[in-house]
Amino acid sequence: MSKIRKAYFCQQCGYESAKWLGKCPACGEWNSFVEETVSKSSSGRVTESRTSPKPVLINDISIEEHKRIMLSNNEMNRLLGGGLVAGSIALIGGEPGIGKSTLSLQIALKQPNLRTLYVSGEESASQIKLRAERLGGGNSGNCYILPETLLENILLQAKEINPDFVVIDSIQTIYTEKLDSSPGSVSQIRECAALLMRYAKESNTPVFVIGHITKDGSIAGPKILEHIVDVVLQFEGDSNYIYRLLRSMKNRFGSTDEIGIFEMTGNGLREVTNPSEVLVTRHDESLSGSSVAATIDGARSFLIETQALVSTAAYGTPQRSTTGFDVRRLNMLLAVLEKRAGFRLAVKDVFLNIAGGIKVIDPAIDLAVVSSILSSTADISIPQDWCFSGEIGLSGEIRPVNRIVTRISEAEKLGFKKIFVSKYNRKTPELSKFKIDIQYIGKVAELTKTIMSG
Ligand code: TYD
Ligand code: MG
Repeated sequence: MSKIRKAYFCQQCGYESAKWLGKCPACGEWNSFVEETVSKSSSGRVTESRTSPKPVLINDISIEEHKRIMLSNNEMNRLLGGGLVAGSIALIGGEPGIGKSTLSLQIALKQPNLRTLYVSGEESASQIKLRAERLGGGNSGNCYILPETLLENILLQAKEINPDFVVIDSIQTIYTEKLDSSPGSVSQIRECAALLMRYAKESNTPVFVIGHITKDGSIAGPKILEHIVDVVLQFEGDSNYIYRLLRSMKNRFGSTDEIGIFEMTGNGLREVTNPSEVLVTRHDESLSGSSVAATIDGARSFLIETQALVSTAAYGTPQRSTTGFDVRRLNMLLAVLEKRAGFRLAVKDVFLNIAGGIKVIDPAIDLAVVSSILSSTADISIPQDWCFSGEIGLSGEIRPVNRIVTRISEAEKLGFKKIFVSKYNRKTPELSKFKIDIQYIGKVAELTKTIMSG
């Protein structure tokens, strides 16, 4: 007999409390508690094993090779650590409108050798068909569409069709009969995920689960799922721009260093295999205020353009605004320029953009950021075949960055003639093999001299 009880859950992190709280003691979120009904029989622990395992000596354990399914999407294969692992469950998270449904439908459609099942709780079958046509449809003879929100029905249909790959769009819209709470609540999400997990493991079918993240946290965030699933992929990017980054946040079968880069086109997401070539614009004429940084994100190295505009502040208080770069870091760099290189920037507005709407946290782009600021201030353009890679410290010193060899070879490969790095990189033995002119600099003041002299 199942007993009904009520509890309050934080919709942000899943913290459970017997009474309502204004502030969540676990994640600090305000006003995030919602009352939910929980039936005693199911506390979310569906996957508990019936037979208790015995301890085994680690040397006696044989490693079973995971069976991997190669998808037609190479960026995705790489992100997953070399294809989709049979029986694994992956969460694709991201803000609404970023392209989660597009990408997963695209993957489901373009597997000629696999029987795929795309379950949508958000769109009707004809809406999905329209989208599929927009995506070029091609080779979709084996893709089944199921508009359904009741999990028990979904699992029943899945057992009937016996697909090789399942997409659930999205976890917030599906619900199980076992619980009274509404779809999207913490207990529903947990229970559904656990049931899907059991289905994936028992049938050895890989499952993609889509999860929305909203800024106001009104729907239970996929955060509570992160420890249940095998793989977490997170969409990043500004929906006003065409580029999307898919980042691997957790992967039980591969590295989390990988990122996938996609471009949103009129017919779906296109894989970007050569990010440097699309993120760096070759202008016909030299422009002041722009410079190129050799950056690394995860395991991927690419070049990216930084653009700055420095102008006299119209009203006493100068503005500092950035896209894709931490504004506090910009303020720090401006302070360093003021103190260590004698630039009077306190009365200037400074705007900084990273091309393509991509967010960069790699400190190695400091050097390029400062170069574009200097270039804009003096209205002197930086030659288009120069490139920068170095971190700037508070005393104005240029600090070495990791994996400098990878960065320099990327710049060389793209035809750059000169790269500026920290003087502490001089000792790296592999650097002698490069044909590109490597300039070693120690202080920010040396950089200003180089740029000012054109
Ligand atoms: P969608 O995948 O529905 O986002 P999510 O599932 O993450 O909420 O798609 C988001 C946006 O992509 C939508 O605003 C329209 C746009 N889009 C394209 O630009 N090209 C396309 O081919 C498709 C299918 C969508
Ligand atoms: Mg969607």
